[in-house]
Amino acid sequence: MVGSWINYTMILIVSVLTIYMLALEGAVDFTTGGFLFPYPKDSSLILPLAHHVDVYFPPRKRSRVCAPFVVSGEQTQKSSIEVLPDECLFEVFRRLPGGQERSACASVSKRWLMLLSSIRRDELCTNKITHSVEPEKSSSTMKEEKPTESERKGGYIDSNEIKAEAEEDQETEANGYLSRYLEGKKATDVRLAAISVGTGSRGGLGKLSVRGTTSIQGVTNLGLMAIARGCPSLRALSLWNISSIDDGGLFEIANECRLLEKLDLCQCSTITDKSLLAIARNCPNLTSVTVESCLNIGNESLQALGRFCPNLKSITVKNCPRVGDLGIANMFSSAGRVLTKVKLQALNITDVSLAVIGYYGHEVTDLALTGLQNVNERGFWAMGSGQGLQKLKSFAVTACRGVTDVGLESMGKGCPNLKQTCFRKCPLLSDKGLASFVKTAGLLESLQLEECHRITQFGVFGVLGNSRKLKALVIANCLGIRDTEFEFPSMSLCNSLRYLTIRNCPGFGNASLAILGRLCTRLLHLNLLGLHGITDEGLRPLVQNSEDCFTKVNLSGCVNLTDNVVLDIVKMHGSTLELLNLDGCRHITDASLVEIADDCLLLSELDVSECGITDSGIAALAGAVHLSLQILSLSGCSSLTDKGLASLGILGQTLVGLNIQNCHGISRGAVDLLVEQLWSCDILA
Ligand SMILES: *[C@@H]1O[C@H](CO)[C@@H](O)[C@H](O)[C@H]1NC(C)=O
Ligand SMILES: *[C@@H]1O[C@H](CO)[C@@H](O)[C@H](O)[C@H]1NC(C)=O
Ligand SMILES: *[C@@H]1O[C@H](CO)[C@@H](O)[C@H](O)[C@H]1NC(C)=O
Ligand SMILES: *[C@@H]1O[C@H](CO)[C@@H](O)[C@H](O)[C@H]1NC(C)=O
Ligand SMILES: *[C@@H]1O[C@H](CO)[C@@H](O)[C@H](O)[C@H]1NC(C)=O
Ligand SMILES: *[C@@H]1O[C@H](CO)[C@@H](O)[C@H](O)[C@H]1NC(C)=O
Ligand SMILES: *[C@@H]1O[C@H](CO)[C@@H](O)[C@H](O)[C@H]1NC(C)=O
Repeated sequence: MVGSWINYTMILIVSVLTIYMLALEGAVDFTTGGFLFPYPKDSSLILPLAHHVDVYFPPRKRSRVCAPFVVSGEQTQKSSIEVLPDECLFEVFRRLPGGQERSACASVSKRWLMLLSSIRRDELCTNKITHSVEPEKSSSTMKEEKPTESERKGGYIDSNEIKAEAEEDQETEANGYLSRYLEGKKATDVRLAAISVGTGSRGGLGKLSVRGTTSIQGVTNLGLMAIARGCPSLRALSLWNISSIDDGGLFEIANECRLLEKLDLCQCSTITDKSLLAIARNCPNLTSVTVESCLNIGNESLQALGRFCPNLKSITVKNCPRVGDLGIANMFSSAGRVLTKVKLQALNITDVSLAVIGYYGHEVTDLALTGLQNVNERGFWAMGSGQGLQKLKSFAVTACRGVTDVGLESMGKGCPNLKQTCFRKCPLLSDKGLASFVKTAGLLESLQLEECHRITQFGVFGVLGNSRKLKALVIANCLGIRDTEFEFPSMSLCNSLRYLTIRNCPGFGNASLAILGRLCTRLLHLNLLGLHGITDEGLRPLVQNSEDCFTKVNLSGCVNLTDNVVLDIVKMHGSTLELLNLDGCRHITDASLVEIADDCLLLSELDVSECGITDSGIAALAGAVHLSLQILSLSGCSSLTDKGLASLGILGQTLVGLNIQNCHGISRGAVDLLVEQLWSCDILA
């Protein structure tokens, strides 16, 4: 340790002399006057810590720093490095032989740190000073350099920031490159500078995320410049909620970090088109860009991204008031050949943008549109008619009034490869449009309808009757569904459907279930959630007609179901059932648990929260030797007592999660005892 410090001071002295020589040769211009001051006795002032207010350097380290000077016995002819102007120090620092030495110097003071972090990789001159020190590997091979043991442990890296920086390694090399995440108080310029200096020798920073700077000394352009200069290998940059950075910082990134692939800007209102334009021009490998709530980013940025970034695959633009049709249209007309994932949300764009997407979006596979208030039926019609979206697989629309029957029908025709679709809050969409969409989109595998209040039970059955490949159907919060008895025309079975979810559709009742039971006989997952109108008799046909066996059943919040339906389910599907959720089915009692204990060999997750369960039900479960429950929820079962909990102890051998919150019949002591017994189980109490 002492050895390396001697080494380090030697380097500095040699470096200072080098500068002196350079100055004599006129290579360095020192406008600040003389710089080699003879210095008084106190050798510690060579690294003048005492009078330099620097919270980042713990004073207890001083003796270690000074030791080499004492033993070297060179006290009379010392000069203070600290009186050198920045330019000189800069020259010294860029001659330091390696990353360890730079980190060591950076921990001396904030000034040194900031100076070191302002050195570009290509400004380091590594071979010029001394042959006794192994030269650093060239910047292009930085990735190969692994952190040394002493660096990883903090070693002689002393300042808190540098030390914290060095300790981050273990967690962050997951993607093959170092990444750093700074949030709130941690997000400061000093920290960024430390990252810039510290990661250079450890392979270079690959990913940086900064989220919101709350402290007064938050991140500014200075910190971002340090990153840009020290981390030319940066691949991904994410800045959220930072108003103290503007184009200056991003210009530097654009100039130095040409390998940038991913850029994510959210709530950065001081960043404008100017710097995004620079990034687009300089970073040809940019593949993914997200711009959200950036008040000063507009049409020009999107146009530039489309024009200059030949690899741009993914773009997300949310809530940017300066983005209009012009930006979207220009981006697509030039980048339409490569864009695959597109998300547009809360933008003041019109039918024009959608028409352009429909015409140019040849490679688009995923398209999500949310809250586009000025897009009308004509836009969706044009998007489908453009015949460009031949590769579209996933289409999600939320809160767009333009999704009408005509619009959707056109999309079905124009996008022959659609597989996943989701329509939320589309108030104008009706059964007719849905049916013709499903007929034309022949490959459709997944359909989700939420808050589409014009959709009725006829629409839902139309979907089931008309689609050949549909595997998953979700209907949620659709208030237009009514439970009318009606003669349904004979329809083919929906044999492809494996996953069915109907959630919070109050009109969905027994009659609807009867039809579902006729059409869907191959279900694996059945989720009927919060349906008050369904009863045991209504659910029976669906349970009994099934040709395949359920593996997951969630009946959470279907308050009118009783033990009878659980008996039916266990009888038909008990041998395959892995998950059963009866949360809130308050008529369910111990009788169900007895059946489950007897027949559900594979059950690993059971939720009987808020059910009418007592101690004897738990005893029945506990007595089933072949049962191997992993997760059990009994929350809100107020009839349970300590006795029931005691029998849980036996059942508990396999449990990894147990919820006994709001079981008011259970005492604190019994819970504590259980926690001791089931030490490997996560208990919520
Ligand atoms: C953004 O940062 C400010 C402080 O600068 C904070 O008050 C605000 O809650 C943050 N907003 C979000 C969405 O994080
Ligand atoms: C872009 O990435 C490719 C490999 O993904 C690489 O070969 C190429 O050099 C990169 N281009 C630039 C300008 O960095
Ligand atoms: C962006 O383009 C739209 C037209 O598509 C225009 O109305 C809007 O003013 C433009 N925004 C800016 C900031 O130029
Ligand atoms: C949306 O853009 C149009 C022009 O394209 C403009 O007239 C209108 O005021 C804008 N609306 C909002 C909310 O910015
Ligand atoms: C459905 O529930 C009603 C009560 O709402 C009940 O009278 C009727 O028998 C049930 N229908 C079927 C088919 O089981
Ligand atoms: C069952 O449905 C409820 C209500 O939607 C949900 O909270 C819960 O996560 C679901 N459980 C499983 C295992 O799917
Ligand atoms: C189902 O439960 C609700 C209470 O949530 C009750 O008002 C309703 O009458 C019950 N319906 C049937 C068919 O039993």
